[in-house]
Amino acid sequence: MTEDLGSPAIRVLMMPRDTNAHGTIFGGHILSLIDQAGAVAAHGVGARKVVTVAIREVVFKAPVHVGDIVSCYARVVKRGRTSLTVQVRVLAEDPVARDCVEVTSAELVYVHVDEDGRPNALPPANA
Ligand SMILES: CC(C)(COP(=O)(O)OP(=O)(O)OC[C@H]1O[C@@H](n2cnc3c(N)ncnc32)[C@H](O)[C@@H]1OP(=O)(O)O)[C@@H](O)C(=O)NCCC(=O)NCCS
Repeated sequence: MTEDLGSPAIRVLMMPRDTNAHGTIFGGHILSLIDQAGAVAAHGVGARKVVTVAIREVVFKAPVHVGDIVSCYARVVKRGRTSLTVQVRVLAEDPVARDCVEVTSAELVYVHVDEDGRPNALPPANA
């Protein structure tokens, strides 16, 4: 990868407990990381409590293996009244072979909610 993606929202070492029946990492585990990374980006622009309302198409282009370091890069691409759209890109690095592949990317929508879980206007961008 030569493109500068900035700092990842999260980086996680893949463990044997997260494998599927074939021994590679379970797609649902990566989805969970994508959701967490997107929420980190939402909080990074001032959102307080958010819930995920949509995860758009996710296509896995390469398998992830035990021992890989998965990095999720997340950035807010759209700001609505109560919602934030976040793009997350997932890269897996084999720290032994020093090989890095793009695994998937996704667009997620989070809604800023109040204490009762109702949509709540986002705070001003620079608050
Ligand atoms: C998210 C939630 C609070 C939205 O409630 P709602 O009554 O549909 O809210 P609204 O129709 O007022 O929409 C609120 C915002 O969400 C956006 N939104 C709602 N459904 C959406 C969808 N399917 N895709 C993208 N955006 C959506 C709206 O466009 C709106 O954005 P804006 O204020 O920036 O214009 C409600 O659907 C909910 O609680 N869902 C469950 C969330 C959750 O628990 N997630 C974890 C899953 S286990």
